[in-house]
Amino acid sequence: MWEVNKKDLEILKELRLDENPFRAVKEYSPLMSEIRWELPEQQELYKSYTKKREVIENKDVDNYYKEKVMPIDKKKWEYLMARKAWYVMPLGWNNIALNGGKVVDIGTGDGDVVQRLIYFVNTFWQKNNISNKNLHIIGLDLNSLRIKNANRLVSSPNKNITFEFKEADLNKKQKYDNYYFDFALSTSVIEIISPEYYQDFIKEITRLVSKGIYIADIFEKFPGGYPRDKLSKDFLDLGFKTLKREVVLSEPFDKNGFKNKIKIWPSILIQNLWLEKNKKRN
Ligand SMILES: C[S@@+](CC[C@H](N)C(=O)[O-])C[C@H]1O[C@@H](n2cnc3c(N)ncnc32)[C@H](O)[C@@H]1O
Repeated sequence: MWEVNKKDLEILKELRLDENPFRAVKEYSPLMSEIRWELPEQQELYKSYTKKREVIENKDVDNYYKEKVMPIDKKKWEYLMARKAWYVMPLGWNNIALNGGKVVDIGTGDGDVVQRLIYFVNTFWQKNNISNKNLHIIGLDLNSLRIKNANRLVSSPNKNITFEFKEADLNKKQKYDNYYFDFALSTSVIEIISPEYYQDFIKEITRLVSKGIYIADIFEKFPGGYPRDKLSKDFLDLGFKTLKREVVLSEPFDKNGFKNKIKIWPSILIQNLWLEKNKKRN
């Protein structure tokens, strides 16, 4: 298992995501998508990652995620938070900052996307002199150990931005009333929900949310995952319209190789969506 070192942090800076969090959108092109397969590093990573994911595919997936032990220290958590920002971008998050209210993070993992939302909203409020709003974020996850990680690692610099993390299985109906939340986030989660549960899973998200949903999810075939090319249509049928959509690659690279020398993942297509409740249907 790799450890974060100084060089990794330097590479992070080279990605310049603080200048433009949508850099992956700028760098994406269908040609780039083709070119990646010519990189020996991509082929190698794809092979080794495929082997790992096939193990997941052949297991009882629900128990795999529920019981997976994922110890993580603050340094690695911070590194991964900054690194994943390449393909988990703040698409539509300004609506959350402008509105405030309650947000649910579906399948929150170690809470690093919640942490990014907290920083995003705090910065947005500071820049726009907003001090009369509140935001409360609830991160839900199947895995109690990841909930513990999130509780240990996430913090808020602003007393008007609060959070909590709770164990929950989103394959089942939640105890919250209809439209209890204003917004939902779901990153790298719908992609692992098996077809058997998929429809109920997204239906439950739309039952909980009154305004907007942000999604980041794989967009091409990958073992242990289910790319959903009809995600927008499926959410539209449940009353949520896609207002923004970007397809990006998960890894920054050029034709000479990967820019991320840690090579944690192969480069795969990811879709980012911002959806809003379709008012016509209310
Ligand atoms: C690939 S991780 C993504 C975590 C986080 N959202 C992120 O972007 O880093 C998928 C997460 O979904 C959680 N998960 C899987 N099935 C779930 C379910 N039915 N209900 C709640 N969480 C679930 C897993 O425990 C895991 O933490």
